[in-house]
Amino acid sequence: MLRLGVNVDHVATLRQARGTKYPDVISAALLCEKAGAYGITAHLREDRRHIQDSDMQSLASSVKRLNMEMAVTEEMISIACRLKPVNCCLVPEKRQELTTEGGLDMLADFPRMKSAVGRLGNAGIAVSIFIDPEHDQIRAASDSGAPLIELHTGTYALSEGAAREREIERLAKAADFAHSIGLKVNAGHGIDYSNMDGILLIPHLVELNIGHSIISRSVFVGISEAVSEMIRLMEKYRG
Ligand code: PXP
Repeated sequence: MLRLGVNVDHVATLRQARGTKYPDVISAALLCEKAGAYGITAHLREDRRHIQDSDMQSLASSVKRLNMEMAVTEEMISIACRLKPVNCCLVPEKRQELTTEGGLDMLADFPRMKSAVGRLGNAGIAVSIFIDPEHDQIRAASDSGAPLIELHTGTYALSEGAAREREIERLAKAADFAHSIGLKVNAGHGIDYSNMDGILLIPHLVELNIGHSIISRSVFVGISEAVSEMIRLMEKYRG
């Protein structure tokens, strides 16, 4: 069964917008778990625009499976090694971006990436690399020792018509290749209730990480129902 990891960053975005104590990120995460989410994902950004250090600390001790999204920096590596989430997903980060733009470039500074994967792995954390569906990047992720990749689906989410078809094909080929060299394959970014059909055509997927669309939907139906609706769509996955 395809698993759902719910990204709760935007619960914190709402709280930070007014500097209030609500909505509580941990309560939201626990409701997501109760509604059937396999895991909880949160991104501790360097600029702390949504999730705060205290959120990450509380999530690490409250939820069953925490996936900490993080940039490859000394600060984040040391926080992760202390909190020991089940997974870390390494992502690129730029200060001005609205959200993560594109996958991590594993080839730009491979020794630093490999060292980060090794240090996190030694702390007992299963590392995932967020990458574009490209052969060389997937090979480098594998060479770094990471057991997992998360394919960036953001380009797919924004494309239409023939470009959309091409992107599904690209993601499917990437998933096939990653699987053939022993990587576990997750996917995420920009997935919503209306574009799930194309995602379900990608083979070998283990987990989807979805945030913005679920938190947005929860405004209308509540977070439990928003998670359940997404899981119902994912139940159609045939692998
Ligand atoms: N996966 C990764 C690596 C991400 O950076 C994000 C966004 O924080 C997500 C998944 C979730 O993306 P979205 O909020 O568009 O569902």
